[in-house]
Amino acid sequence: MNACRWLSSTLVFAVAGLLALVAGCDNAGSSGSGGGASGDALVVGFSQIGAESDWRKANTESIQSEAKKRGIDLRFSDAQQKQENQIKSIRSFIAQGVDVISFSPVVETGWEPVLREAKAAEIPVVLSDRAVEVSDDSLYVTFIGSDFVEEGRRAARWLADATGNKAVIAELVGTPGSAPAIDRKTGFEEVIAEHADMNIVWSQSGNFTRTEGKEAFQAFLKSPQAQEVTALFAHNDDMALGAIQAIKEAGKKPGEDILVVSIDAVKQAFIAMTNGELNCTVECNPMIGEQLFDLIEKVAAGEDVPKRVAVEEGVFTQEDAAELLESRAY
Ligand code: AHR
Repeated sequence: MNACRWLSSTLVFAVAGLLALVAGCDNAGSSGSGGGASGDALVVGFSQIGAESDWRKANTESIQSEAKKRGIDLRFSDAQQKQENQIKSIRSFIAQGVDVISFSPVVETGWEPVLREAKAAEIPVVLSDRAVEVSDDSLYVTFIGSDFVEEGRRAARWLADATGNKAVIAELVGTPGSAPAIDRKTGFEEVIAEHADMNIVWSQSGNFTRTEGKEAFQAFLKSPQAQEVTALFAHNDDMALGAIQAIKEAGKKPGEDILVVSIDAVKQAFIAMTNGELNCTVECNPMIGEQLFDLIEKVAAGEDVPKRVAVEEGVFTQEDAAELLESRAY
């Protein structure tokens, strides 16, 4: 009887031990076979510029929620608008051995050394939102983002139509050296160059933020030159919204005394259009998470992808604003 009990409990332990061993083998198998440090999950290091605008916050949300939906191990870092922070993050992603590096470069130049390090480590790089200027374009695999030159052209075309090709223009420029600031200026100037009576008489950076946009325009409004200005072109909605505040505080009517056209098409811009304070916003779509991770997954799988992927966008005026305001997600 004792011997029988001993035999059955020994068998129970043996079976339990065997099951534990099998389970252990399964776990070891999955953690060893995946990409990067998180088992089977794709590991992506993403360096975001910061949170300088409503556009950027929506862009971050779109990227983080899409990664979560797909079970991607996203190592996200916020550079607070500093290139040196982005370079540090990219170096840390290389050290972590992530599967793919993606980033939205704050400025266009100065990326070659760190991109060469990523290439030497055989980690593919996908550019998001903004492009870089490099002598060797094999340093990144692909770039997804808006056509900033076309956005500038669209803003200028709207202004030309709205004013009968006649405007004395002030310009609030984005972050100096950034792709959208350079390209939007280029596109805008290209179109107004066709009209002798459309001229930029003042141009200053507001660094894509509401606060700096307001401060710069507030100072400008105190100058005698401001009296002749009939229109403001702001490189993004946040700076336009800051300037609108400054125009009101100076006792003028934004949208009437000074026409305001900007870029992004965030919800706050739609509100300003329904109030008659902003006249037009050209869309720059931040909701690119889905398209971005489609690309990243293909790149990680070694599939061919186009070198440049564009984002589709529209132009909105005060006539469209009330109808579209409710459905605007950001
Ligand atoms: O790169 C896109 C630009 O960056 C958006 O227009 C601006 O709002 C953002 O900060």
